[in-house]
Amino acid sequence: MYQFIDYYHNEVQLSFEDHPFSKDPKHVWVVCRYHDKWLLTQHSDRGYEFPGGKVEENETAKEAAIREVKEETGGRIKTIEYIGQYKVTGKEKTIVKNIYYATISELIKQETYFETFGPILMEDIPISVKRNKQYSFIMKDDVLQRSLIEIKKKWAM
Ligand code: GTP
Repeated sequence: MYQFIDYYHNEVQLSFEDHPFSKDPKHVWVVCRYHDKWLLTQHSDRGYEFPGGKVEENETAKEAAIREVKEETGGRIKTIEYIGQYKVTGKEKTIVKNIYYATISELIKQETYFETFGPILMEDIPISVKRNKQYSFIMKDDVLQRSLIEIKKKWAM
């Protein structure tokens, strides 16, 4: 288990065990890979980030992950796997988020990308992301770096 402070000074607990904080998390985040590139979205307020969002009523977390990837990037999922979970303890609210790793078979142009400007493909995620204003705050704590390490280890990248 990893513990650190995020961009907004909230406490974050991160684990790559099987659902350590909640069996029924209400948030999802999906690290996506398409044709040897990382697939992100450009959120209209927050900037570049991997797609994700809230689990809706009558939806599993994995279904939410698949839906969010489609809505925010147009990506059609080829494979998707749970890799970990994190808990953010905020001043007003505590959230638990599942992390998935997905491979994408196709990018389908959408009529709307909801609150984002749609897909962004990147060869590498720059190390300067923490200082870069173009990136979302959710990319600015150790969840990103630890997740990438976990993915690269597991999928021998
Ligand atoms: P609404 O219900 O739409 O108003 O949501 P909200 O704006 O309160 O945000 P949400 O419920 O998604 O998250 C609550 C708080 O948790 C946010 O204000 C963030 O500070 C924090 N949070 C959400 N997602 C992440 C994340 O991926 N990483 C980190 N570090 N914090 C997050």
